[in-house]
Formats: sequence, structure tokens, C-alpha cells
Amino acid sequence: MNKLTGITLLAALLLTPLTGASAAGAPAGSAERGKQLYMQHVCYSCHGTVGQGGGKAGPKLAPDPFPYDAFESQLREPRNVMPRYPKKFVSDQALADIYAYVASIPAGTKADDLPLLRR
Ligand code: HEC
Repeated sequence: MNKLTGITLLAALLLTPLTGASAAGAPAGSAERGKQLYMQHVCYSCHGTVGQGGGKAGPKLAPDPFPYDAFESQLREPRNVMPRYPKKFVSDQALADIYAYVASIPAGTKADDLPLLRR
């Protein structure tokens, strides 16, 4: 391996965690850690523990959350009454983890598929 190849490889390795994106174009994050952060930052108090929404307190977040960019700008500069989460309190990595958690929440069973609710 020549020196240039070595440097290129090293740069690629160093940059991977920064550019490693998930399928949704979001930075890589840990859903497990994100769940803890979601609870710790009391997102659940308005949006529900599985992002199901809390009526007027906060809209539904999952399944299929906003694209990452919109999610990030809502936390950094909320549109309306939601509290702001600056980097000082929720780092970029924490935000990616929270997003990974919200994005990992599966859709619930459709009402039509619940035998009790079938007419
Ligand atoms: C005090 C209640 C409250 C808390 C706590 C809260 N939110 Fe919100 N959130 C809201 C409300 C209300 C909105 C609607 C837009 C607004 O008011 O800015 C919202 C909007 C959003 C949206 C945009 C979704 C949409 O359909 O408009 C996202 C994403 C979001 N919140 C994520 C979070 C995350 C992640 C946390 C925790 C780090 C959090 N929120 C904490 C109340 C809250």
C-alpha cells in the first residue's frame, strides 16, 4: 500500500461515523440509547412512550417520523409551543439516537385486523 492509499483509507475510516447514514438518510444512531434519551428528556410526556401522540400535548411521531432534517429543526427551533432542545442539552449524537428510536417503532395493528373490532 502506498502512502496516498494509506491516507485515503485512514480518512475514509475516520469519516465513516460522521457520514454513515441509515436508509432514511439520517445519521447513524442507537435506537436502544435513543429510547433512554426519549424518556430522560420527557419527550414521552407529550408524544407518548411509543410516539403515539398525546392529543393536544404533542402530535404523533411514529410510525414513519418526519425526515431527519425536519425532525432536527423541530427540536432545535420548534415551530410553535414545543420546548426547545439546544445542542447543550441534546447533542447531535443524542438527536440521531432519539431519531433512530422513533424510526424503529413499528406500526400498531390496524383496527380492521383486530377481531374484537370487526363488524
Ligand atoms: C411539553 C410538550 C412537549 C415535549 C416535552 C416535547 N414535544 Fe415535541 N411537540 C410538541 C408540540 C405541541 C408539537 C407541535 C409543534 C410545536 O408546538 O412546535 C411538537 C412537535 C414535534 C415534532 C414534529 C411532529 C409534527 O407532526 O409536528 C417532533 C419530531 C417532535 N415534537 C419531537 C420531540 C422530541 C424528540 C422530544 C423530546 C426530545 C419532544 N418532541 C418533546 C410538544 C412537546
